[in-house]
Amino acid sequence: MAPDTLSASSSRPDPRLSLYRLMDPAVLADPYPLYRSLRETDPVHWDPFLHAWVVTGYADCITVLHKFSADRTPKPEQIQALGIGALAPIAQVMTKQMLFMDAPAHTRLRKLCSTAFTPRRIEGMRAHIQDITERLLDRVAQSGRMEMIADFAAPLPAIVTAGMLGVPTEDHEMLKSWSADFAEMLGNFQHNPDRAARVLQSVEEMTAYFQAAIREQERLPREGLIQSLMTAEVDGQRLSEEEIIANTIVTMVGGQETTTNLIGNGLLTLLRNPAALAQLRDDPSIIEPAVEELLRYESPSQHTARIAPEDGELGGKAIRKGSAVMAVMAAGNRDPARFADPDTLDLTRKDNRHLAFGWAAHFCFGAPLARMEGQIAFATLLRRLPDLSLDAQKLVWRENLGLRGLKALHVSFRAA
Ligand code: HEM
Repeated sequence: MAPDTLSASSSRPDPRLSLYRLMDPAVLADPYPLYRSLRETDPVHWDPFLHAWVVTGYADCITVLHKFSADRTPKPEQIQALGIGALAPIAQVMTKQMLFMDAPAHTRLRKLCSTAFTPRRIEGMRAHIQDITERLLDRVAQSGRMEMIADFAAPLPAIVTAGMLGVPTEDHEMLKSWSADFAEMLGNFQHNPDRAARVLQSVEEMTAYFQAAIREQERLPREGLIQSLMTAEVDGQRLSEEEIIANTIVTMVGGQETTTNLIGNGLLTLLRNPAALAQLRDDPSIIEPAVEELLRYESPSQHTARIAPEDGELGGKAIRKGSAVMAVMAAGNRDPARFADPDTLDLTRKDNRHLAFGWAAHFCFGAPLARMEGQIAFATLLRRLPDLSLDAQKLVWRENLGLRGLKALHVSFRAA
């Protein structure tokens, strides 16, 4: 809903402040000057091109994530009414995912899913993750060079995800490709009509695949999230099959794209900051704060959307009920009012409560797993690949504006 004239910014719409500028590859390559301009000139900004409020300060992002509604995905009936009924199956799945729900439906679903994702189960994955990491690096160690995304950052979370779900590891490439398609719906505020058919096909294939996995696990239970969701029971309540599939999909996608981007973006950041890279290599005991800092500095999930639940005020602006609001977590993570020297990478930064995993009720469900994967990945890369350096290349960022990550990252190191 557009703001009324009184609540709109008094100045004329300024295209230089639009988040749409992320579609320019140069801005996408370094979005932080755009975020800074927004935060400094209009931290709660009506973006007339996006038709949404864009929020860039740390404290305001928290308010949005805490107080505003996550129930933002169009219902299948609304999709029909828009004349794009062919896409209704996508909306059908999204409306059943915890990410797009408010309490009490969200609380119920999240509680049921958490019984499947206990700290003990995650800790139990540590040795397996270390083993996959070593094996992926064994394949390239003698060559002295690798393409970090395809050789490592993409397959590691995909293989971990297959194990976490309880589906065959050999299927990890299929999971990866579905996840990349679905992430287009999650990460973008602009949708490419040429890709819609592909996303639709992926949703249909994933649904059929997980339906078959459920049928098989009814006969032959197999350790993993799907089995846990099938048997989870809280206060006498169980998940429906549709809910199991929808939330397996959101966990599968959430667990892959973002973790790939943490590894890719984080390694690029270290290679661009050789002193920090040397510091971490020489003192691996700082790995925990180092991963938090990499998450803050180059957040894999840059923004998310909410809906204003009622007429109200934020940062001196009148926000009307039903307005779309984007919380730009990556901008909040560089807010000097919260982080000293926010544009400086400091691997031992104290008091680093960043927004990379969101905030409040929807705080990332998989954060403990993501942290563990990140810590194992960076520590092992630095231990196994001496003299790591960036090859001369033109870096290309994926066109997904919300889930920030590189298409490829070519590096060299001293061969084993
Ligand atoms: C570096 C890696 C990751 C990052 C940066 C990340 C980021 C996020 C963020 C920002 C949100 C909140 C979105 C919102 O409020 O709109 C979120 C939610 C979620 N994430 Fe992650 N995530 C990561 C890894 C994972 C992993 C490994 C899993 C699964 C194993 C996962 C599953 C989920 C799920 C299911 C939600 C929805 C939670 C809810 O709605 O209650 N994520 N994540």
